[in-house]
Amino acid sequence: MTFSIDQFRLEGKVAIVTGAGGRGNSIGRAYALGLAKAGASIVVADMNEAGAKAVAEEIAATGAKAIGVGVDITKQDQVERMVAAATDSFGGVDILVNNAALMVEVAGAQITDISIDDWNRMMNVNVTGALICSQAVLPSMRARGGGKIVNQLSGGAFPATGSYGVSKLALYGLTTTLAKMLGKENINVNAIAPGNVKSEAGKMLVPDDSPFIQFLNMTVAMRPRGEPDELVGALLLLCSEAGSWITGQCLHVDGGWVLRP
Ligand SMILES: NC(=O)c1ccc[n+]([C@@H]2O[C@H](COP(=O)([O-])OP(=O)(O)OC[C@H]3O[C@@H](n4cnc5c(N)ncnc54)[C@H](O)[C@@H]3O)[C@@H](O)[C@H]2O)c1
Repeated sequence: MTFSIDQFRLEGKVAIVTGAGGRGNSIGRAYALGLAKAGASIVVADMNEAGAKAVAEEIAATGAKAIGVGVDITKQDQVERMVAAATDSFGGVDILVNNAALMVEVAGAQITDISIDDWNRMMNVNVTGALICSQAVLPSMRARGGGKIVNQLSGGAFPATGSYGVSKLALYGLTTTLAKMLGKENINVNAIAPGNVKSEAGKMLVPDDSPFIQFLNMTVAMRPRGEPDELVGALLLLCSEAGSWITGQCLHVDGGWVLRP
């Protein structure tokens, strides 16, 4: 096979991006817009249904195809309805981006005293939700001869030093496990671990003048913070034929924050 730049194109593909309709300039919104620019039809999925529909309209205004769907990814029946909506509108699912998560909501919770209710709520969204969505899209991916699943991790999982980091490390485990299970079925399962991103949520969590950003400034190889759009190139690699032989991997997109041998 000779490499062609067209291997990054996604015409005829259908992608679900969870957590893409929430806070303004979110990473999920950038992912949804980026996949649409590459040619995919998009299901913008979020608990915030109005936000999901607004991002879908933004995509449709560019001439691409998109629908917005309200979904709680921890509820199997709602996730089944999300997949049915993808099939009704576009014929099936080729790409799933498990991006929805609780982050800002759990930031202050220390592992030594987080309530078990809060812990379960976080793990339920950040890990179980991704599993529920992955299971739900498998029949369609299998019927279409393959697919791509990308899980959104975080630099905060390398190493995990808080409750949120533990949930993202568990999601890494789900990534490698699904990759091993599904590789022979032509389904690639990978992850992206962003560094500090200037989404609305990221700015809320870590203001530019916080001591953490000053610390990162001294330790990160490049800039300590990136824009949501700077993650899109990695996503396109993992969702397209250009990344056909990559599976079970975590791509760090963080300016050189997490450096691993
Ligand atoms: N912003 C950062 O610096 C940063 C860094 C590393 C990783 N991340 C990860 O990137 C992803 C997006 O982050 P963001 O900064 O855009 O945050 P965000 O809070 O804007 O996005 C999370 C989205 O998930 C949705 N959501 C939450 N629970 C849900 C549920 N049960 N069902 C459906 N949707 C649900 C929210 O409505 C929201 O739209 C998250 O997985 C986050 O952990 C963010």
